[in-house]
Amino acid sequence: MVMLQFSAVATCTVLLSLAASSLAGGADMLQDVCVADLASPIKLNGFPCKAAITADDFFFAGLKNAGNTNNPAGSNVTAANVQSFPGVNTLGVSMARIDYARGGQNPPHTHPRATEIIFVTQGILEVGFITTANKLFTKTVTVGDVFVFPRGLVHFQQNRGRGPASIIAGFNSQLQGTQVIATTLFAAAPPVPSDVLAKAFRIDNSQVDAIKAKFM
Ligand SMILES: *[C@@H]1O[C@H](CO)[C@@H](O)[C@H](O)[C@H]1NC(C)=O
Repeated sequence: MVMLQFSAVATCTVLLSLAASSLAGGADMLQDVCVADLASPIKLNGFPCKAAITADDFFFAGLKNAGNTNNPAGSNVTAANVQSFPGVNTLGVSMARIDYARGGQNPPHTHPRATEIIFVTQGILEVGFITTANKLFTKTVTVGDVFVFPRGLVHFQQNRGRGPASIIAGFNSQLQGTQVIATTLFAAAPPVPSDVLAKAFRIDNSQVDAIKAKFM
């Protein structure tokens, strides 16, 4: 009897976790397609569907070319998500191309709504993610390699090669969302109070202000 109850609970747990995982990329589809009407004034969880659609709504040529990496991070993320590619609306998937200059990095960041899987198309990168138990999982990856960053966890990519690098990323969300840790904390508007950050990082207000100044 006790065993029976245990297995019923176990079965329910498995079913619940299956239901939860199938929802991870978005709610179940209720129709074949729903190309995002990005201009609609209607506010809802996602984007409403555009009335007139063509094959071009399901096509995106924007990942062909490298983004310009001439910026402080030395990297550039070109997104093929619902904002640039409305055809993925409600489909629970999106992609990105990330380019890195020599020495460039995609700084530590999180995606609140998606797991990310990457495929290296050029160069050598050190990539990694950190769990909620503060354990770092890191690997050096090169052309043809795949690595996965679990949903919500802080992760990064650092170019370790002698030349440029690039990857293609896939997400199980049409809009993964990105919070770059340093920018979120030191470049928010209005700013996070310096004494809050000073205490959090165990440094002085003046050191916080010096970091903030670099993000102006
Ligand atoms: C990324 O590259 C695009 C295309 O070259 C450019 O328009 C954009 O400003 C770049 N973004 C950054 C952050 O450098």
